[in-house]
Amino acid sequence: MRLDRFIANFAQFNRHQGRLLLIGQQVQVDGQVVTDPKHEIRPFSRVEVSGQVLQVGKPARYFMLHKPPGYVSATRDPEHPTVLDLLDEPDKNELHIGGRLDFNTTGLMLITNDGQWSRRLTQPTRQLGKVYYVEVEQPISELYVSTFASGLYFAFENLTTLPAHLELLSSHSARLTLHEGRYHQVKRMFGHFNNKVVRLHRERMGDLQLDPQLAPGEYRALSTTEIAKV
Ligand code: URA
Repeated sequence: MRLDRFIANFAQFNRHQGRLLLIGQQVQVDGQVVTDPKHEIRPFSRVEVSGQVLQVGKPARYFMLHKPPGYVSATRDPEHPTVLDLLDEPDKNELHIGGRLDFNTTGLMLITNDGQWSRRLTQPTRQLGKVYYVEVEQPISELYVSTFASGLYFAFENLTTLPAHLELLSSHSARLTLHEGRYHQVKRMFGHFNNKVVRLHRERMGDLQLDPQLAPGEYRALSTTEIAKV
């Protein structure tokens, strides 16, 4: 909802008074002075007028899901089940995904209604480490390690990927740490060697690790300590 409408919904202010308060820099949203009447208020936004809280907001919600294969990382899909279908929670339309995974990729997925928190999770400048377990069709050589560490040129985006760390686990499996999230990045990096990824599983995002107690398809709320890690 727009900020001016939000303010005008409160009995003590009409629309004109709301505008005056905005111009007079009397309105704060989540601790920041906002003067733009079109500023979008989210369900969990904290809005203060002259220091008085109008709304503390709905409680922020944070979940960790073990994504199984065969689910789309979207809030709705005409054809396939989505990761939100796995959540038994009210007001699911308010939730969104922090860091998508491909249809058949499994592992750690974070879901929340807190846009600031999820932005911190995916913000390119933060370069949060994302750790993937990867299995491929062809043997992996040491050349992959140095190539991924130097960065790979992605012609479509006209960029070179950030240095990535590859730890070889066996001839056909490895653990890869990325500090960005380009489209199909892991598959494209192995694709550089014409090596097809046959299993891809996200183990960690920053300091948040997939809870080993969660079976594929299961989820749980994050603890306060986990929320603070992002
Ligand atoms: N890279 C991919 O190619 N797929 C994913 O799902 C995640 C990272």
